[in-house]
Amino acid sequence: MLLVLNGPNLNRLGLREPGVYGTQTLEDLERLCEGWGAELGVTVTCRQSNYEGQLLEWIQDADEHGFTGIVLNPGALTHYSYALRDAIAGQPLPVVEVHISNVDAREEFRHKSVTAAVCKGKISGLGFLGYRLAMEALTEGGA
Ligand code: DQA
Repeated sequence: MLLVLNGPNLNRLGLREPGVYGTQTLEDLERLCEGWGAELGVTVTCRQSNYEGQLLEWIQDADEHGFTGIVLNPGALTHYSYALRDAIAGQPLPVVEVHISNVDAREEFRHKSVTAAVCKGKISGLGFLGYRLAMEALTEGGA
């Protein structure tokens, strides 16, 4: 059972900077993830919040709720949230960090991730496909 978490501003997918993030919506992304989960034989729960504390609580409780891995796009929190980093480090489940855009090809402040070092791996720049690849890594013993 996988938890797919999207952080701040990702509820605006489809409207927000479509040249960077594409024209598909968060709902499109979540339906895709559910479909990929069905293909991979795993149940998927998708959640999004603009609130750091809410994301922390979902991560903190994930193992207790029976999840086996987390796909996480932390949005801009990636670049500065030590609280998010600590929540990931304190959660024994594997977490794979995903970015839709290629953060290394963008502004300097996006090159740094304070969360990636406590994640099992990181995927960036492959659009929504990154979520699928993260789910594969979390269901095939890759993570
Ligand atoms: C993002 C990249 C972040 O730098 C940005 O703040 C986001 C989205 C991505 O998916 O490419 O909100 O995580």
